Amino acid sequence: MKPRTITAFIGIFLSGAVIQPVVALDYKRDIMPILVKKCSDCHSTDSKKAKAGLRFDDPVSFQKRMPKNDTVLPGDWDASLLFITITRPHDSDDAMPPKGKGDSLSKDEIRTVQKWITEGAPINGDRGKRGKMPAEDAQDSLDLPGTKPKEQAWKNKAGKTIMATLLKVEKDVAVLRLRGGRIYRYPIANLSEESQAMLKKKD
Ligand code: HEC
Repeated sequence: MKPRTITAFIGIFLSGAVIQPVVALDYKRDIMPILVKKCSDCHSTDSKKAKAGLRFDDPVSFQKRMPKNDTVLPGDWDASLLFITITRPHDSDDAMPPKGKGDSLSKDEIRTVQKWITEGAPINGDRGKRGKMPAEDAQDSLDLPGTKPKEQAWKNKAGKTIMATLLKVEKDVAVLRLRGGRIYRYPIANLSEESQAMLKKKD
């Protein structure tokens, strides 16, 4: 090679190494392999019946199916049914994959799905609105598999009961996650005495 060619070559080589754009997540490249690996027995073009009409191995079909039942709401990970089902305790009735029917997603896989939804769920060149990832400390207390505190019945002073998972206690507020995935900040003073006692047990 002539010196000039070599310089040009090195230039290209270096710029290739330096310019490393942060690549956004993409369904086909980053999400589909996870869902095909763990869910294809029941949600693929091949499986006898694509349960609930979900074909994770077919991005075009899946994109059309995303809005139904809020399966994927771009930007809104905690309201997206896909995220809710993969973060349910593995032994709960509506967890995905169903109890005894395969491995749950790992924490990293769950984060990847969460991040993809937050980035607007890019798929087939389309992207919806972006959302926000939870702050790191809130993220750590998210009840992901393995670290999951159990869902419990919480009662308020008026005697009303809700089923929710305690994520953490912040001063005079209990941070509860409702069954649908919504996060609820409940003033501890409004909880019944039994429920307040349940909080103390957690400390
Ligand atoms: C053994 C079969 C099986 C496996 C494996 C499985 N699912 Fe499902 N899934 C179902 C069935 C059956 C339904 C429908 C349940 C119902 O309607 O009550 C369903 C429903 C769903 C729904 C709700 C769709 C809706 O609109 O109601 C989501 C989301 C889902 N599955 C995601 C997953 C994911 C993600 C995986 C892999 C981690 C997975 N499933 C693995 C059987 C399975």
